[in-house]
Amino acid sequence: MPADVIIGGQWGDEGKGKIVDLLASKYSAVVRFSGGNNAGHTVINDLGEFKLHLIPSGILHDNVTCIIGNGCVIDPKVLLYEIDKLKDVGIKVSPKNLMISDKAHIILPRHIEKDSEQEKARGDFKIGTTGRGIGPAYMDKVARSGHRMENIAEWPEWEEKLGGHITSTQKLLRDLLDKDENVLLEGAQGALLDIDHGSYPFVTSSNSTIGGALTGTGLVPSDIRDTIGIFKAYATRVGEGPFPSEIEKSNPVAKHLLEKGHEFGTTTGRERRCGWFDIESAKHSIMTNGFNKIAIMKLDVLDGIKEIKVLNNIDNKIKYDTLSGWDQSTIGIKDYSDLPENAKKYLNYLEKELEIKIDIISTGPKRDQTISN
Ligand code: GDP
Ligand code: IMO
Ligand code: MG
Repeated sequence: MPADVIIGGQWGDEGKGKIVDLLASKYSAVVRFSGGNNAGHTVINDLGEFKLHLIPSGILHDNVTCIIGNGCVIDPKVLLYEIDKLKDVGIKVSPKNLMISDKAHIILPRHIEKDSEQEKARGDFKIGTTGRGIGPAYMDKVARSGHRMENIAEWPEWEEKLGGHITSTQKLLRDLLDKDENVLLEGAQGALLDIDHGSYPFVTSSNSTIGGALTGTGLVPSDIRDTIGIFKAYATRVGEGPFPSEIEKSNPVAKHLLEKGHEFGTTTGRERRCGWFDIESAKHSIMTNGFNKIAIMKLDVLDGIKEIKVLNNIDNKIKYDTLSGWDQSTIGIKDYSDLPENAKKYLNYLEKELEIKIDIISTGPKRDQTISN
């Protein structure tokens, strides 16, 4: 034992990939449990910059077994491309360090076609999906007409290359945990995109919250030690749907966040909508997941903003709190004491309002640009 879980606290793209890569060396296995290649997790470390869609962000560590769990949907073509791209730059990927659940479902070309047809049919009410066939693949799963990775023999070309990776990952994880090994579960998307607990219908088609971490791996509640929520120091959303603290695109602050934060989708390249941190939404995530720790990412992106606002509604009335910003650069700061006083005040404010300890503060995209205990 135990298993720790990383979960996005907002609408995805919080920086989960960076944190998984940062922590992975302490674990024997890193496991994806939900979603598919709608996810795009960025890792920047000494080996280079990587954008991972299906392969867990632990793959850059020797001695870490990466597992794609039963809760995921897998486009074999995309997975093979991702494996090849990693191999091209010298990263080892083999059945020794990448295991795929026999129960994960396969995304087929018809799912991708259906995703785009459904979006067209929705017209003005489109969801803004990533177009990767995720929803239709989960539809087939729930309708009991899907294909699982254990059926991959029906596609000899895929079976030849992926067959050796496919196994009962539930059993594998059970054995690891029974041997007292540590396991890290890597969430995809964010709590507010969860099919049940997010802003339905503007959500993804799986449970990206803690429940999905269990059903998507076959682990049990007593396996879980820490559930770590990952939040940006502000907020972004890509795709349609409600975003209470969104800043108008014409406002210079929106431009600042977009440009300084490079807020363009890792999977689709779409511009992300930008806004302020939203306390009520964050509390909903904390409640839904039972986070006992959180990370605040991209603090450096707020450098140079004069007044930082936070949406902090009271009794359903819209209310923004305003905190003073800071001029100094926080990029790459590793020591809490080196942060500008106003940055500390902002973090203290978040801790107080959210009633939760901030365990990790991220001050840049690279692995070592981090303040952690
Ligand atoms: P994920 O889907 O949650 O893994 O996040 P993405 O990789 O889609 O998006 C996060 C983006 O922010 C990536 O481009 C990261 O390299 C970048 N990033 C992560 N942490 C920080 C940080 O603390 N500061 C800055 N400036 N960028 C960060
Ligand atoms: P990571 O893991 C941000 C969004 C899409 C769309 C909605 C439904 O990188 O944080 P889908 O293709 O899943 O049916 O799209 O969910 N979405 C994400 N937004 N980050 C993600 O993943 C996302 N995965 C899906 O933009 O609004
Ligand atoms: Mg992402």
